[in-house]
Amino acid sequence: MRIGLIGLGRIGAFHADTLIGIPAIESLVVTDIVPARTKQVVDRHQAQRVDGVDSVAALLASGVDGIIIAAGTDAHPELVLSCVEAGLPTLCEKPVARSGTAGAELLRRLEGAPVPVQIGFQRRYDAAIAAARAAVVSGELGWVNTIRSTTLDPEPPSPEYVAVSGGMFRDCGVHDFDVLRWVTGQEAVEVYATGSNRGADFFRRYDDVDTSAAIVTFADGALGVVSNTRYNARGYDVRLEVHGSKDSVAAGVDDGWPIRATEPGVTFPVGPPHQFFMDRFQPAFRAEFETFLEVVAGERPSPCTVADGLEADWIAEACARSLQEHRPVRIEEVRLA
Ligand SMILES: NC(=O)c1ccc[n+]([C@@H]2O[C@H](COP(=O)([O-])OP(=O)(O)OC[C@H]3O[C@@H](n4cnc5c(N)ncnc54)[C@H](O)[C@@H]3O)[C@@H](O)[C@H]2O)c1
Repeated sequence: MRIGLIGLGRIGAFHADTLIGIPAIESLVVTDIVPARTKQVVDRHQAQRVDGVDSVAALLASGVDGIIIAAGTDAHPELVLSCVEAGLPTLCEKPVARSGTAGAELLRRLEGAPVPVQIGFQRRYDAAIAAARAAVVSGELGWVNTIRSTTLDPEPPSPEYVAVSGGMFRDCGVHDFDVLRWVTGQEAVEVYATGSNRGADFFRRYDDVDTSAAIVTFADGALGVVSNTRYNARGYDVRLEVHGSKDSVAAGVDDGWPIRATEPGVTFPVGPPHQFFMDRFQPAFRAEFETFLEVVAGERPSPCTVADGLEADWIAEACARSLQEHRPVRIEEVRLA
């Protein structure tokens, strides 16, 4: 297969490395609005079949079978529409869009689209998170009372990234919100969220926070507890705990868990700590791409449609309003689609 990749920044350049390692991908066509980034990726993979082109239009005309979008969040809706209008199955990185308005408009414009769109929530392909979901689905855990999802980044992104990211809840917490929905099979009805700024000034400048917490109430009464920060110096801490009336499970509590136990004599976790999404989720990204290739081949429907992905965006939108207005916010107050 010939696959296109748009956006070659922090994650796009890393995705190129993963995609090149998938045997079913015979060639890759890459582009970024910054030509030097395209050149860098092409140069790094000279031995493999990676072609660089100077625009999205050139990529759309290059004979690719499907496209992966890893451009900045503000560019997602326009790029998804261009790919779909060109008749190409598309995988777009999370979140769907920078705002609820832009996400709802994209969904409206995609109505009746003849090709599938998949939203990139790679945690759904993480073996331990998938096993936690299976434990809920099988009934092993009984009824879920509490589900905690934690994403602690080791370092803040650049000010330029934060400016177009959609904010902490939509950019970072959205992974947790998607996992809460996916694992419980429940929809959120209300959130109560807060946040703080103790790091770089630019977060405040962009009306964002560098640390946040949210309580999410689900339709069946299960409570989600989400914790996020941009300043977890020890490493990239992504964990999921599901507590039920019969049993409890956790994902992400392995030797790479970036934490130091203070009990005398306890040596777990032995490390080294997970550094960032690149090492923590490499196998999950690969599995996500392999699933996308099956979508491109028409062998299965999109496992996470735009409508599905947008549900996590609405939880994020409600959290942002809750933080701003210091009150619980119901999802139906913010939902536009
Ligand atoms: N799944 C994950 O765990 C994960 C992790 C990090 C980032 N992301 C998502 O991936 C996306 C990119 O994040 P990043 O950290 O790589 O950001 P980044 O700022 O490092 O890179 C974005 C790249 O997109 C390019 N770009 C922007 N608009 C473009 C357009 N219209 N056409 C072509 N190129 C364009 C920029 O020049 C830049 O090189 C974001 O939406 C982010 O939310 C997902």
